[in-house]
Amino acid sequence: MISVCLIASFFAASPLVERINNNPANTWKARDYPANIISIAKAKENIKFPETQTAKKSFAPLSTGDFPETFNCGERWPGSIGPVRDVGTCGGSWAFATANVVAARLYTINKGVGPLSPQDLVSCCDDAYGCQGADIEVVWHHLHYGGVTTEECIPWVSGYGRVPLCPAHCKDGSNITRQWVKSYTMIEGGEPAMMKQMMEEGPIVGGFMMFADFLQYTSGIYHYVEGGFIAANTVMIFGWGVENGVKYWNCMNNWGPYWGENGFFRIQRGINTCSIEGLSSAGHFYF
Ligand SMILES: *[C@@H]1O[C@H](CO)[C@@H](O)[C@H](O)[C@H]1NC(C)=O
Repeated sequence: MISVCLIASFFAASPLVERINNNPANTWKARDYPANIISIAKAKENIKFPETQTAKKSFAPLSTGDFPETFNCGERWPGSIGPVRDVGTCGGSWAFATANVVAARLYTINKGVGPLSPQDLVSCCDDAYGCQGADIEVVWHHLHYGGVTTEECIPWVSGYGRVPLCPAHCKDGSNITRQWVKSYTMIEGGEPAMMKQMMEEGPIVGGFMMFADFLQYTSGIYHYVEGGFIAANTVMIFGWGVENGVKYWNCMNNWGPYWGENGFFRIQRGINTCSIEGLSSAGHFYF
């Protein structure tokens, strides 16, 4: 009986996955992931966005015609897009997304230092909620006043949800040196404002409302199909393009390289699916 169930579950996709994959109108494919790759626990974090953003239902119809059809920060600034990492069961997407964006933007001013430390933020940003989430403005405030050190100095250890106290020294005993942003913006103005930010200064932090179908994404251009609201998620958006007439954003998730398109995903651009065009932000290295 047990082996029959195992065989059946090996071959049969869940009804949600079958419905997504069998509808030719969908521009993306789904699969059932094992629990070690996609756990509900890590998706349960509570991320707050400023009311000026969340209250916004539509954007001024600014022209996107002035922008190239495709743009990729990784090509524009080689080395800026760091490796995909895995937040584990910690609700710390806010720390990964902001650390990844600051790390990438250091490359745009020729001051790249490799991956920055989400652990530093989870452990040391006192006004965030560690593995339970954060108010994204509070995180940028911390990145402005406190900064963030390198992954090498404070490596990620909260993958199982335990958050150690803010360390006094790097793992190897040396003094902690941090990178900080001079200012930050909660981006308003939707698609063209996001594109302008990326072309001028590099990747941005993207926020979006995550629904059940997103967890099963495996390839293509995601747009909401069905499923209940899970939580907000934050990721790095680093480019855009068009495939078969469908516009998309290039994003890096924090669920390891075995989820999605090698850890990355594309999400439909220009229709504000899951509020992806309403909740982005970025730090700057100028005042
Ligand atoms: C580390 O920081 C301490 C305290 O600020 C300072 O006294 C010490 O000289 C620093 N060590 C190095 C190697 O810079």
